[in-house]
Amino acid sequence: MNLFLETYGCQMNFADSEVVASILLKAGHQVVERLEEAECVLINTCAIRDNAEQRVRRRVRELQSLQQQHRLYIGVLGCMAERLQSQLMVEEENVAFVVGPDAYRRLPDILSRLDNGVRQAAVDLSTDETYADIQPVRLGGNGISAYISIMRGCQNYCSYCVVPYTRGRERSRSPQTIVEEARELFRQGYKEVTLLGQNVNSYRWCDGPSGNAVTFPELMEQVASVSPMMRVCFATSHPKDLSDELLQVMARHANICRCIHLPVQSGNNRILKLMNRHYTVEWYLDRVSAIRRYMPDCSITTDVIAGFCSETEEEHRDTLKLFRQVGYDYAYMFKYSLRPDTYAARHLRDDVPDEVKTRRLEEIIALQGEIALENNRREIGRIYEVLVEGTSRRSKEQLFGRNSQNKVLVFDRGAAVPGNYVQVRVTGCTAATLLGELVK
Ligand code: SAH
Ligand code: SF4
Ligand code: F3S
Repeated sequence: MNLFLETYGCQMNFADSEVVASILLKAGHQVVERLEEAECVLINTCAIRDNAEQRVRRRVRELQSLQQQHRLYIGVLGCMAERLQSQLMVEEENVAFVVGPDAYRRLPDILSRLDNGVRQAAVDLSTDETYADIQPVRLGGNGISAYISIMRGCQNYCSYCVVPYTRGRERSRSPQTIVEEARELFRQGYKEVTLLGQNVNSYRWCDGPSGNAVTFPELMEQVASVSPMMRVCFATSHPKDLSDELLQVMARHANICRCIHLPVQSGNNRILKLMNRHYTVEWYLDRVSAIRRYMPDCSITTDVIAGFCSETEEEHRDTLKLFRQVGYDYAYMFKYSLRPDTYAARHLRDDVPDEVKTRRLEEIIALQGEIALENNRREIGRIYEVLVEGTSRRSKEQLFGRNSQNKVLVFDRGAAVPGNYVQVRVTGCTAATLLGELVK
């Protein structure tokens, strides 16, 4: 069958699509690059906020017109498939099958039975599936940076979050298979790997009941040792588990990215408690100081939710205050979106009016824009090692790449080529990008 894969959501979902492609190619199917050539569309979905789901529903309905022209099966994969299960096929009648994140090995079997006309759902969650033996097919990548999924699931049960329900129990993948995948990528010419998990710093692998456990700092040490020429990044860390030991390992290896994504969610202790985040503002700020102590040049980025249940104006201002205190280099900012069946949906009231959520979100966005610009202005004059990724969108004469802090730099191409490390002096900036020139 000719299959077309479409992916929404987080990096883990993109990594999963590469596993899906691998499973399907092995079973004799083809992945095509144009939707028009497809006999089956696989939509790997996200359920994190209501608007993520609405987007997928619009897409599914839009595909109806293609289905009227020729036979085209639609399969929904990922977190929305897991959350809604076969109910999704009742609500969206043109969906032929749904497959949850732990059931992708069943895809070949499901595809082989499509012509029978029976609609199928495979949504069992697993306690041990990690797809460790599957070599992902790198889809649409640049051949320079790749994701390695090191764990699956999450059981932190933040009160607003659907992930523990869509991805199941937390489980780690064996360090041997992770290091081997990193080595293989380096052999193929990759220069950067990003280790992925919903909560990477609780990574833990135990070799049998008596064996020693491998923790996240130890795993980082192993992956960073594959080659000093290969950068290692990771996402996402939970503030409650950010240990000094990890920071020490990072500081020891120049090829571990100087960038920590540390989602804070709110700057107020009462709200953090309601969110079930297991840390306080004081704890969080202590972790930020620890990062700066070990790596003064480390960038820090975050996620935040505006207008969580019962958040007052003053509590919102605490979030703004925290943003100023930390001085984030980048932030993903969201309005609270009620997710059915979560603790917040069952026990708390979504009582901040939508227009108030919107206004609070806009205030955070505006402040973060100022902070990012101030941070970037301080970069002017500094020289960074940049991993070149490709041609700039704005001009063919310019290249772009990122430094170890994960900031994008744009510069005149000179003799540089994608995949190279070059030295770039920062000469200007916007809030999102650093402009620079090659240092000879
Ligand atoms: N595992 C990561 C992030 C997972 S989801 C972590 O714990 O940090 C990515 C981000 O989506 C979250 O950090 C949070 O800011 C946001 N998010 C999750 N559920 C949400 C909801 N119900 N409404 C709005 N934003 C949400
Ligand atoms: Fe969701 Fe919290 Fe798990 Fe992140 S740590 S995926 S926010 S439950
Ligand atoms: Fe979305 Fe699932 Fe990722 S809900 S954010 S695709 S884990």
